[in-house]
Amino acid sequence: MARIIDAPLTTGDGGSCDPRTIHGAWGALDAAGRRGLAYTAEVRAETDHLYEQVKHVVPAIEWPAYAPLIAAINKMKRDKNAVILAHNYMTSEIFYCVGDFRGDSLQLAREAAETDAQLIVQAGVHFMAETSKILAPEKTVLIPDMRAGCSLAASITGEDVRLIKAKYPGVPVVTYVNTSADVKAESDVCCTSSNAAAVVEWAAKTWNSDRVIMLPDEFLAKNVAAQTGVKIISWHGRCEVHERFTAEDIAELREAHPGVVVLAHPECPPDVMAAADFAGSTAALQSYVLDNRPGKVVLLTECSMSDNVAGAAPDVDFVRPCNLCPHMKRITLEAIYDALAEMKHEVTIPEDVRVRAKRAIDAMLSLPKEKPRSFETGKAPVAVELV
Ligand code: 13P
Ligand code: SF4
Repeated sequence: MARIIDAPLTTGDGGSCDPRTIHGAWGALDAAGRRGLAYTAEVRAETDHLYEQVKHVVPAIEWPAYAPLIAAINKMKRDKNAVILAHNYMTSEIFYCVGDFRGDSLQLAREAAETDAQLIVQAGVHFMAETSKILAPEKTVLIPDMRAGCSLAASITGEDVRLIKAKYPGVPVVTYVNTSADVKAESDVCCTSSNAAAVVEWAAKTWNSDRVIMLPDEFLAKNVAAQTGVKIISWHGRCEVHERFTAEDIAELREAHPGVVVLAHPECPPDVMAAADFAGSTAALQSYVLDNRPGKVVLLTECSMSDNVAGAAPDVDFVRPCNLCPHMKRITLEAIYDALAEMKHEVTIPEDVRVRAKRAIDAMLSLPKEKPRSFETGKAPVAVELV
């Protein structure tokens, strides 16, 4: 059965962060006090309405630990003309109480390109902050914790892509947004899990090629190959969160919860996708639940996703085995507070790299806007060539 990753997590203050503090309450309790913030009547009046959206995951007794940080963050946002882009994997007190734009990595990239704010705080991981900076170079982009990485982004370098291109001249390179700016700069077009199949089909057609290089996620590549019929050359990158789900997990879940609807993210292995009822990006999973209101559902993805979707679908019963992304969980309320207060940590990208990376992201964004494309489940596995 899926389990919480036992990873060395710290709060923004370097304190320990065990599963009990996924929502960071104990860290936030003294974190607020150490920053001279208290749960005053004024703070209470400003934040009570926000509690309504997180009361299903934040016990009332813990709310006074969060509210002073939330009020202070929201005030700094107004004072500094800042917005917080919150990914679907943020804990609910970040997602609902300080996030200005919420969504999957594609939606957040579009928001970064369009916002009028001068300051963007990325409540997500480093590649997402780089994507914002690539699209909005005139804006200051902050990431609250520089250690918020991603196992996929760490799996491949720009030099690796240059070597792959030399091996397969003329074959288009589609790169998942979960990569560094250096890797994007070597690519023809980016994709996210919302549009991966559409981008691969477009690249094959545009380059008039029966093959496409799709980097760096081996499982996403296999899942896209099964959807599109395009031959794919890929890399051995994996998401350390989604690779842990198994088809046996699904069999156990179905036995323990008859009638449960199983939703999976396409970074999961192909046998998990085959056994699920529905699959797609975090935005697609959210839409599925909101549109279909299944009686009982399980989301095979990062832990906070269920908490956040449950906030919008209180009538749905969520079974919650999940895996925690240690990188996403580096982003805490106190880290966001410090980022805004001290204007840290600024994301910068060499201009020549940024310009080339932007070409690949723009190629993706210029494709016709469609709603997140879901992945058909129950497909037979399709092999891809791994470089
Ligand atoms: P989405 O593009 O679906 O938001 O996924 C991003 C991610 O990091 C999934 O692990
Ligand atoms: Fe990267 Fe996986 Fe974490 Fe997403 S969940 S940021 S792909 S490690």
